[in-house]
Amino acid sequence: MCGIVGHLGPKNSVNIVLEGLKRLEYRGYDSAGVSYIDEHNELQIYKKTGKLENLKNLLGDQDFKARMCIGHTRWATHGEVNDTNSHPHMKDHISIVHNGIIENASTLRKQLTASGYEFKSQTDSEVFLSLLVTELAKGKGFKKAMVDSFAQVEGNSAFVVLNKDVNEIMSIKKGAPLVCGINEVNSEVFISSDPYALAGMASKLYFPGDEVLCHLSASNKNLLNFYDLEGNPTENYMSKNQDMSVGPTDKGDFEHFMLKEIHEQPELIRSLTQFYFQGEGLKSLLKAGEFKPSKFHITACGTAYYAGLLIRDFIETFNRIPCSTELASEFRYRNPLLNKDEASLFISQSGETADTLAAQELCTTNNVKTLSVVNVDGSTLFRNCDDNLLIRAGIEIGVASTKAFTQQALTGRLLSLSLSDELKDETKRVALTAKFSLLAEKIDHLISRSEEIKTIAESIHNHKGFFYTGRGKYFPVALEGALKLKEIAYVHAEGYAAGELKHGPIAMIDEDMVNVALVGPELFEKTISNIQEIKARKGIIVTIGPKDEEELEELSDYYFGIDFDGLDELSPVYINIVNQLLAYYIAKYKGTDIDKPRNLAKSVTVE
Ligand code: G6P
Repeated sequence: MCGIVGHLGPKNSVNIVLEGLKRLEYRGYDSAGVSYIDEHNELQIYKKTGKLENLKNLLGDQDFKARMCIGHTRWATHGEVNDTNSHPHMKDHISIVHNGIIENASTLRKQLTASGYEFKSQTDSEVFLSLLVTELAKGKGFKKAMVDSFAQVEGNSAFVVLNKDVNEIMSIKKGAPLVCGINEVNSEVFISSDPYALAGMASKLYFPGDEVLCHLSASNKNLLNFYDLEGNPTENYMSKNQDMSVGPTDKGDFEHFMLKEIHEQPELIRSLTQFYFQGEGLKSLLKAGEFKPSKFHITACGTAYYAGLLIRDFIETFNRIPCSTELASEFRYRNPLLNKDEASLFISQSGETADTLAAQELCTTNNVKTLSVVNVDGSTLFRNCDDNLLIRAGIEIGVASTKAFTQQALTGRLLSLSLSDELKDETKRVALTAKFSLLAEKIDHLISRSEEIKTIAESIHNHKGFFYTGRGKYFPVALEGALKLKEIAYVHAEGYAAGELKHGPIAMIDEDMVNVALVGPELFEKTISNIQEIKARKGIIVTIGPKDEEELEELSDYYFGIDFDGLDELSPVYINIVNQLLAYYIAKYKGTDIDKPRNLAKSVTVE
């Protein structure tokens, strides 16, 4: 979603901010802009719809001398995608960028308009600018004006403001990600919505709490200061060394990040198990399994939710602990029944998804232990949970999640192993390592058969709709397979429990509808009957199922046989790799923007 980068220091701020914004491109956006103070002490603003490249072209070949700059990539919420609605927004000597949503924007807008403020854009963000300018016009100092403006807005937001009059950048947030960074050697200070933007630039990171004023100034002894709402210095922040590197943003020989990330999976599985079974992760895994709750509330959004469904199956099957798996956006407003002897489990790649964070907060408030299965170390979810298991997927650039899903599901399996105390036994750990290694090996083999999947994709990519079906443990990956296709190929696809199709959706089956049937060794005959039902109505059958099954092959228009031997409960993760490749190649034939699909954001920081 929207990305923020700000810089203050002796190096060229504009180039640094552009570099930071480039790194946030993967999150999805529809316009970009920067605002800076130039060498003549003029406040400049440049913004442009479309890719960052458009903004760079607009900026041209200037030799910037800026010592202070803020920048933004916008994912439109209030107001259509156009240059005017892009950030930053500027008035007099102030420019601002904003992430989040001002929920009372329309009320405030009416009041401000009535008192004479002329809005240029349709955005809610400009409301904050207008409030700030109004407060400053009353003679208030920058800090006080920020606090008083912030007090008037509702909802979750992060604001970063550049004030040319005092040569300072000030920021405040509530419920939205924000990180500051410093590089003392170069006397530089940074601010961003994502630590990744600052990788290799800031040496130390500071994650401010909600309602903390972050003050970036070159004229202070400290480049970075934090204040509470009364203007007193505060230590309401968490600091850590910046240890991220920028290396992995390279696509290497792959045409898309998504394909690269699919290919990374076998190696990531090996390193995940090495870390948790043999390496330094074992301690944290054993700790995560110490508390045996009476129930797990598993909560997440999007692909992470589907990983949650797999994790539910692991925990219910192997630990016999009841689990409920819910979409965070529903859970948070449902007034769920929460008890102290229960635990909640949040699954997230980014650790910044607004609804997931709100669900976590709800559990903490109700004294329910919170645990995360998360990719980004130091993310808000990571910081807010009692306990965390990192999925160690590395940065995921493709908006459609692939490797994070696999790692989330497998980390969930590790948690369930820990809950049953199996990991305390070295011999068991060795046997389990062999099972995970087998999965990695089989995925390697699947990937080596990509051409076969590509050929199927070529034949079916123009059909009007897709039903992904599965039963039992394959149902969650039917949902995930359909989501992958929708996200990147923009075709209607639905995941359905194979046995349920006849209760409605079968009415849609005709010769232009594809059924991607996910068939495992379990419930084999029953799933075959379900395929028959679709076949009888002339649906096109693509089967991904056990190899060398003649009956299946005969039934299918396209049959992709795979070897499930020895995978047992890990087999949904395995079959899902075919889903990923199928969606990828269908999207490729459709010519969509695979890594940055339209309308989507990698990290959804608004509810
Ligand atoms: C967005 C992304 C999805 C992701 C979901 C949850 O919608 O496009 O790929 O599954 O958010 O994100 P999280 O970071 O919490 O896993």
